[in-house]
Amino acid sequence: MEPLITQFVREPNGFTLDHYLQKQHGYEALRTALTQTPDQIIELVKASGLRGRGGAGFPTGMKWQFVDKKSAKPRYIVCNADESEPGTFKDHVIMERNPHLLIEGCAIGCYAIGAKVAYIYIRGEFYHVQRVLERAIDEARAKGYIGKNIFGSGFDCEVYVHRGAGAYEAGEETALLESLEGKRAQPRNKPPFPAVAGLYGCPTAVNNVETLSNVPLIVNKGAEWFAALGPEKNGGPKLYCVSGHVKKPGVFEASMNITLRELIESDQFAGGVRDGRTLKAVIPGGSSVPILLPDQLDVQASFDGVAKAGSLLGSAAIIVLDDTTCMVWLAQNLLHFYKHESCGKCTPCREGTDWLFKLLSKIENGQGQMRDIDLLNSIAGNITGKTLCAFGDAASTPVLTTIKNFRHEFEAHVREGRCTVPAAWRASQPVGAH
Ligand SMILES: Cc1cc2nc3c(=O)[nH]c(=O)nc-3n(C[C@H](O)[C@H](O)[C@H](O)COP(=O)(O)O)c2cc1C
Repeated sequence: MEPLITQFVREPNGFTLDHYLQKQHGYEALRTALTQTPDQIIELVKASGLRGRGGAGFPTGMKWQFVDKKSAKPRYIVCNADESEPGTFKDHVIMERNPHLLIEGCAIGCYAIGAKVAYIYIRGEFYHVQRVLERAIDEARAKGYIGKNIFGSGFDCEVYVHRGAGAYEAGEETALLESLEGKRAQPRNKPPFPAVAGLYGCPTAVNNVETLSNVPLIVNKGAEWFAALGPEKNGGPKLYCVSGHVKKPGVFEASMNITLRELIESDQFAGGVRDGRTLKAVIPGGSSVPILLPDQLDVQASFDGVAKAGSLLGSAAIIVLDDTTCMVWLAQNLLHFYKHESCGKCTPCREGTDWLFKLLSKIENGQGQMRDIDLLNSIAGNITGKTLCAFGDAASTPVLTTIKNFRHEFEAHVREGRCTVPAAWRASQPVGAH
């Protein structure tokens, strides 16, 4: 499949409005959308089968349909540009190199749900990306593509960028809404879901950057065309972030017909495991999802394909681990992240992630006992499903999945009091030293 979203990201002026207008039928989709009714746009997006690219793969058209239309309150599109899942680095490529595609997607989304304002909530560290986006918004406003009475249709739409302070939990949609309202990024009780009571208690659709960037393509080329690009219920182009022990890490755009193995091994994509090494394991959807082993990679890299293999596509962050990876160290490293990022609202997550990190450090440092391995499983199992948001499940998965697949490495650490993985790779600093 020829890239559709990232086709021009390497061109020096690919991010400009002129380039977008000339090479990507810029803002034609918005013009077309405004000649149809909002319900027609929702039906179109539903028919395309577009599924959310933020992690859960929820159908976007259905999400828009759930937005409460009877409420007299204003409605909002909130674009989730927090992009904090470890291994995920695709959304910033869109925002930095093809910002008008996202802005156009935001405007069409607003029209579809009856909103006049879209907020792009951007990760705290993305200062440069914020500047690029704001410049693009100014360019679009100057030409009348956003603002008042767009294309003389009577439709008004503003797009604002709001930069967070850099917290993983701020990517969880209800914590994001809290943060956007100026409060601490902690998750809300659900229900009510954002579609009913979201930003400022008003009906809101929260959509990922890549999700919204697909919408202009659907309006321009049709739902059938979009659906046919991938396997059933997994249509459209997909951005994959391949990182770790591969020759060519990067963002790759492909149809979800592709397999995980092709993405990792083909020269057209990540080019295979780095020289002289063999593949040990793959985390296919960001650090929060179960590990797959080398013989499980001949599956479609689609939401349904990866689920069938026993993991999740998540944010399509494919983290490749070669034979130098110590799985105890990996779990410890990830839990250092999760314990630091836990927002502290739910006790099992706040306390449990710290317990997990301490136990993993004990084993990693050669002071573990055999019973610690079962204790890790027990603590992780007691976090899963017992928190307000999916952070708890995300934090316990690295522990459960490494023990399930590599229990012998944990036992060897305890027995030998050291790591037994040949030539095990370690960061130059011990985990947690910074
Ligand atoms: C802890 C946590 C962090 C998340 N981080 C992100 C993120 O950085 N970006 C994102 O789009 N979705 C993230 N999500 C998923 C969002 O809650 C939400 O499902 C998503 O923005 C919906 O957009 P979509 O339907 O377009 O996928 C996160 C979820 C959790 C539980």
